Amino acid sequence: MTTSSEVPLRVLGFLREAEDYVSGQQMAQRLGLSRASVWKAIDELRRRGYRIEGRAKKGYRLLGVPEGLDPLLIREGMRARVVGRRVHLAEEVDSTNSWALQRALKGAEEGEVFLADAQRAGRGRVGRSWFSPPGSNLYMSVLLRPKLPPSKVPLLGLCGATAVAEALRDLGLDPEIKWPNDVLLGGKKVCGVLAEAHTEADRVLFVVLGIGINVNMDPEQFPEELREQATSVKAELGRAVDRNALARAVLEALDGLYASLGKGDYAGVLARWKAFSRVEGREVIIEALGERIEGVVQGVDEDGALWIKTPQGSRRVLSGDLRVRRW
Ligand code: BTN
Repeated sequence: MTTSSEVPLRVLGFLREAEDYVSGQQMAQRLGLSRASVWKAIDELRRRGYRIEGRAKKGYRLLGVPEGLDPLLIREGMRARVVGRRVHLAEEVDSTNSWALQRALKGAEEGEVFLADAQRAGRGRVGRSWFSPPGSNLYMSVLLRPKLPPSKVPLLGLCGATAVAEALRDLGLDPEIKWPNDVLLGGKKVCGVLAEAHTEADRVLFVVLGIGINVNMDPEQFPEELREQATSVKAELGRAVDRNALARAVLEALDGLYASLGKGDYAGVLARWKAFSRVEGREVIIEALGERIEGVVQGVDEDGALWIKTPQGSRRVLSGDLRVRRW
């Protein structure tokens, strides 16, 4: 497991910006560090796959960064205040949500991110599994300790989907959010969000916000039963994207949305979510807790619940699977 830590991150930033060789002493002075900590950081960066040339009398020069996910590359230049303050990476875990949950119980801080290159037992909503092969996608869980009433917890899931949709829009794509938290490209699912809340009486202790994005997977890599309904960023964009940069963009957007929630700006968060939702006024079918509800979508309220006009009157639905019946 690797974790982002401050000193290697600062040394990396310095090496990236340097136009020529820089000496250990220059770096130590400019960064306010001891020369020993600069050496240690360079050692650590090399161990993580950064190619750093070291020349007597000249100093150091960055020749290349590792391929694949790296917490340092995700955090480099990140503007977020809370979300992503630490990023932990594992090669493979059962589920990043379970990993984050274990760490939350041991006192991990709000905003810590648990990211894995692969999951053995990725979890989806309503007991489903999440296909999680290595080397191509993003599986990450953000630990949040919101000061929100439990009724507002569904808004966190909406924030997760909105953050992903905004990051994909910035890549030039045209994402849609299907209530509550599915992100679609060209009508097919590219991202799912699983928010798991731990509450006590009427207090939220913490929430693990799990986000799975199909990034660079090729269509033929999906199991047959998913091919009709799932897609990846690469398949829609026609080129592979940098997973570290995409993770950073999602975490930055999520940080902004989370800050708005913290200020009680629920309307602001919902307005950003609504910019991607296309179901208002549509005839839909919702499967919710074994019940099938049919009607026309009236809108979403300040708790993230969906209002449906049915022949029996208006219904408020807190969670479920939505299918559009007629466009
Ligand atoms: C869905 O069913 O749409 C939600 C899928 C959520 C998948 C993500 S991947 C990262 C995190 N860890 C998990 O086990 N699940 C979530």
